[in-house]
Amino acid sequence: MQTMKLNNGILIPAIGYGTWQTPDGDAVTNGIKAAVDYGYRHVDTAAAYENEEGVGKGILESGIAREELFVTSKVWNSERGYDTTLAAFEKSLKRLKFDYLDLYLIHWPASASRFENWEQINLDTWRAMTELYKAGKIKAIGVSNFKPHHLKALMETEVKPMVNQIEFHPGMLELQQETLDYCKENDIIVEGWSPLGTGRMLNNPVLIEIAEKVNRSVAQVCIRWCIQHGVLPLPKSITPTRIKQNLQVFDFELDEDDMGRIDALDNFGYSGSDPDTVRF
Ligand code: A2P
Repeated sequence: MQTMKLNNGILIPAIGYGTWQTPDGDAVTNGIKAAVDYGYRHVDTAAAYENEEGVGKGILESGIAREELFVTSKVWNSERGYDTTLAAFEKSLKRLKFDYLDLYLIHWPASASRFENWEQINLDTWRAMTELYKAGKIKAIGVSNFKPHHLKALMETEVKPMVNQIEFHPGMLELQQETLDYCKENDIIVEGWSPLGTGRMLNNPVLIEIAEKVNRSVAQVCIRWCIQHGVLPLPKSITPTRIKQNLQVFDFELDEDDMGRIDALDNFGYSGSDPDTVRF
């Protein structure tokens, strides 16, 4: 499994198994077991996905040693703030039945559209994350859905974010370019949620044409496109054949022409969840 290096030296497997919208119980437990079996060593969950128990169970039943896996969870919006984040972290650990996390993220920034003191709220949440990191309970800390103006204050604190997880798939390049550039300049690894646009990419004629040309599926083309943009993809699937297929993306390359055509698919497949205006 290829890895990327976080700004604190920790290695992160270069693709992760996504679990957003996978129900708790057998669906997520069996999905994780299949994923580990096929070679995934990185699992992404969140308190808000309400499947951490099933994720933990799948990891336990997969038989793999805990330290062989890189596991991420996230603090939900209702738990922002210092004390609440500390408590939310402990609850996630308990549901996962873990004694540490590899990566913990602030799921969404508090933003100016909802909070006058949004920047202070993010700093208070970050202070709790930093404390947990320094206590060794988390190997790396970061954020999700942060734009450069949300990240700015955190960059001036003692521990800088190591990861920013954002929506990323064909059609999103222009919208996310500024965040990609900022993260690159500041040594923050960008992870991509919904690399298949939650399925919205699959019928696009340009993507179908390129997939046929390179003899891969549209899903593999989307995942590969993320990788070639330096973004760590987190494809979600509960279907064993797809789980396996989504990992087979390190043995082919999209040429400049294909990349250019996909880059040009602008403003397509966006979920519409803008961190500055979301109502959750
Ligand atoms: P399923 O979980 O039923 O296999 P995203 O990662 O962008 O959120 O997309 C997830 C969606 O894409 C899910 O509906 C998932 O279905 C579907 N999916 C995942 N991998 C593939 C694939 N290789 N081919 C087709 N559909 C896929």
